Amino acid sequence: MRRPLIAGNWKMNLGHADALRLADGIFAGIDVPPDRDCAIFPPFTSLQAIAEKLRSSPIKVGGQNCHPDAEGAFTGEIACSMLKAAGASMVILGHSERRHLLGETDAFVNRKVKAALAARLKPILCVGETLAERDAGRTADVVLGQVRRGLDGVATDAMRDVVLAYEPVWAIGTGKTATPAQAQDVHAAIRGELALLFGKPVAEDTLILYGGSVKPSNVDGLMAMPDVDGALVGGASLDEADFHRIVWFETPEG
Ligand code: 13P
Repeated sequence: MRRPLIAGNWKMNLGHADALRLADGIFAGIDVPPDRDCAIFPPFTSLQAIAEKLRSSPIKVGGQNCHPDAEGAFTGEIACSMLKAAGASMVILGHSERRHLLGETDAFVNRKVKAALAARLKPILCVGETLAERDAGRTADVVLGQVRRGLDGVATDAMRDVVLAYEPVWAIGTGKTATPAQAQDVHAAIRGELALLFGKPVAEDTLILYGGSVKPSNVDGLMAMPDVDGALVGGASLDEADFHRIVWFETPEG
């Protein structure tokens, strides 16, 4: 049985005071329904303070990135052990903004996934196609390639700690959401690929989140899809009321 996860990726937004204010609001105002999980991913500068604030809440805290090496001369980077020590239990990896704006490759993302698992941080591996790739009919090719290369060498047992996120690049921060049917198609293809790589039971147990302009108005339709197991929310996670409504998504089965 897959437990839905709603994750808020704050990206490079909110100074420390505003981040604490939003975390306080979420802590006070968002009672997470017992059948689902919730996590937030603040900027590194606020991670530890927010993790301490939320220690007694069901809301988990994670990092937005990590470096695969344990330590060393990597100016501006952060090690998995540092995230762990700051109170993170998860980490977002391979986000399209890092792939496209900062040039991260599948091979580098794969090293991070393995480093995170070794450090007992749950990676959320993000995959997704650009609009040009979709228009060229290459969505499955691109997305499944990112899944295969991102998970290369990951042990079947370790997959219990891995979360996937399908984030079509054309839907991120654009207001254009994939339709529930478009998301479902790709999520089902990812699950099929996971079954080939790790076997059907692992594929059936792995969470696949959808990300890209998730809002209160579209979350219910997306979450009604059988292979959509949660949401990775950007912009709307910065608004307490919107995030609350997304965490409280409703599906026809209740
Ligand atoms: P938006 O919800 O702002 O489109 O961002 C999605 C995203 O990139 C989450 O990681």
